[in-house]
Amino acid sequence: MPLVPMRQMLDEAKKGQYGVGAFNVNNMEQIQAIMEAARATKSPVIVQASRGARKYSNDQFLYHLMLAAAELYPEIPMALHQDHGNSFETCSSAIELGFTSVMIDGSLEEDGKTPSSFEYNVAVTKKTVEFAHARGVSVEGEIGTLGGIEDGHGAGGTGLENLTDPDQAVEFVEKTGVDALAVAIGTSHGAYKFSKKPTEEVLKMSLIAEVHKRLPTTHLVMHGSSSVPQELREIINQYGGALKPAWGVPVEEIRKGIAHGVRKVNVDTDNRLAITGAIRKVFVESPEKFDPRDYLKPARAAMQAVVEARMNAFGQAGHAGDYEAKTLDEMKAYYK
Ligand code: 13P
Repeated sequence: MPLVPMRQMLDEAKKGQYGVGAFNVNNMEQIQAIMEAARATKSPVIVQASRGARKYSNDQFLYHLMLAAAELYPEIPMALHQDHGNSFETCSSAIELGFTSVMIDGSLEEDGKTPSSFEYNVAVTKKTVEFAHARGVSVEGEIGTLGGIEDGHGAGGTGLENLTDPDQAVEFVEKTGVDALAVAIGTSHGAYKFSKKPTEEVLKMSLIAEVHKRLPTTHLVMHGSSSVPQELREIINQYGGALKPAWGVPVEEIRKGIAHGVRKVNVDTDNRLAITGAIRKVFVESPEKFDPRDYLKPARAAMQAVVEARMNAFGQAGHAGDYEAKTLDEMKAYYK
């Protein structure tokens, strides 16, 4: 299937009352893992690349890998999304390259670190929306500031410093016209989100319900949604790693979010953990091996297992055949 506009995918997810996992990629094996998981579970999927990923893999390599995926998995609707665009230029270059969706993260200034003013966020997001919608491309914005740092992007902190204010969220959506809105509810990027199983004190699921009540037609996005499963951490540590204990976002909490309007769920760390554990295992158990395929194959399989589990949990499994892809031209007409 050709690359699908994310807006269409999230509208469909709303109809079916499920969430769509958005998985980060940097290389071929990660794209293959996601596509195999999508095929096995018959899921639509969002594949996303951060600025760091685009730099690491080179735009053309990444884009052509995605075109290969579209060709090889014609039954799978997939959106190609820019994760955490730090500026209008990052997003416009993604759109010109062929991404069908972009996130403009105006919650931070262009340095990707300093929390910005509401006025700055509205201005840069609106500019991006105008450019994107004129080309049929979907836009995700962010209000409030997520915790942690991902690929050098992020304010750091616990994620509780600048939670989403529901009133401001309404004003932001009205002023910018974003298709999807990332909310800050206490989650953060990375493997160290919470020091114990999170409760409402640190993971403000009630905020999602509150924002959804006021913005029932805006698709909500949960970032920092890795669950950081203990078993994945243990495999890494068993084979020489040194990860400290920590908690992620339990899958049952994400499912509560989906019941309250969350349609896009960002997962990166869990896949990184799965890959690293599988590679470490081969290195320790078979130190004589040196063919990269000997460790990349199990790494790819380990990531696929995580992605499949999330696709099943988020409810997107079984929905790949629900719709035909809209073209960007059709989306352009829709936005007009
Ligand atoms: P995790 O670090 O929890 O996987 O979050 C990824 C993310 O939100 C990407 O934007």
